[in-house]
Amino acid sequence: MRWGLLSTARINRRLIPAMRACARSAITAVASRTLSRARTFAREWDIPIALEGYRSLLDRDDVDAVYIPLPNSLHAEWTFKAIAAGKHVLCEKPLATNPADVDRMQAAAHAAGVIVEEGFMYRHEPLTDQVVALVSAGAVGAVRAVVSGFTYARNRPDDVRLSASLGGGALLDVGCYPVSYACLLAGSAALSATATARFLPDGVDEEMAGVLRFRGDRMASIYAGFRAAYRTWLDVLGSEGSLSVPHPFKPDGREPLVLERLGDRRHIEVRGSELLFLRQVEHFVGAVIDGLPVTVTLDESRRVASALAALAASARRPEIEA
Ligand SMILES: NC(=O)c1ccc[n+]([C@@H]2O[C@H](COP(=O)([O-])OP(=O)(O)OC[C@H]3O[C@@H](n4cnc5c(N)ncnc54)[C@H](OP(=O)(O)O)[C@@H]3O)[C@@H](O)[C@H]2O)c1
Repeated sequence: MRWGLLSTARINRRLIPAMRACARSAITAVASRTLSRARTFAREWDIPIALEGYRSLLDRDDVDAVYIPLPNSLHAEWTFKAIAAGKHVLCEKPLATNPADVDRMQAAAHAAGVIVEEGFMYRHEPLTDQVVALVSAGAVGAVRAVVSGFTYARNRPDDVRLSASLGGGALLDVGCYPVSYACLLAGSAALSATATARFLPDGVDEEMAGVLRFRGDRMASIYAGFRAAYRTWLDVLGSEGSLSVPHPFKPDGREPLVLERLGDRRHIEVRGSELLFLRQVEHFVGAVIDGLPVTVTLDESRRVASALAALAASARRPEIEA
């Protein structure tokens, strides 16, 4: 399967080694808004073709699938354009910020006969499978709540994550991870969402705390921020115990889970991947070439987009007057 990269984004540096380590994929081309950037990047990463403009990449017959690591506000737009050009799409998270866009993608991808998948790398990792298996097997009893978050201190003033017009903000950048995990463990869409946020002057959320409620009286507490140092966490609280996952979204080589059940504490070690992103690439290529089901379905992406939209809307409600 021949990849085209839509832009010279930093995250490409993590994906390129994975695309090359996958025996059944190769990188054909990279496109950038400016040709000189595309050429410099292509030289640095030994990519055969450098192109000016993303459109010119979509027009090529020697590209089967595109990887979209653009700023968040451009994900849906370029996913639609890639589908219309008959390309398979692996798009960075969040794929969309409203469920209606995902519905339209689903219809368009079906009509064009292409695969569209959201790039939640953590969903492909053995750690996630293990957590889902333990929780489904009743390791913590009946699930009552998921408590999860992702924070890091933002330190680049030109970061696209601080631009309102480019879809910046903590919720979309890192809040989508705990939202995705909460929806995954619930196995359904959230019924309601409430959030509060600290906004920067141009309207970008620098920090957001939210609560989702799911069927079966399950709650999820979500934190996303750019203010505190890097940390990720996930706790699943159940009627008989709890499961703690210290690095739920970017597993290390050996991941320690802590399972507490009816007073007992057990440490469970899960082996991670030697090359993060490789499983994501291999699963995507398997879907394209072998017709295997994708890991992150568009139904799952729709649940995430729906919760993100509801949290964002809730956080924008007027504050209580003092
Ligand atoms: N899965 C993960 O673990 C992970 C990690 C980091 C980031 N991400 C996601 O990947 C995406 C890119 O993140 P990144 O950190 O790699 O971003 P980045 O380095 O800022 O790259 C974004 C790219 O978008 C292109 N672009 C198009 N229009 C732009 C505009 N108006 N302003 C700025 N850039 C524009 C630029 O490429 P050209 O100049 O070449 O056109 C730029 O290099 C985001 O959606 C982010 O959420 C995912």
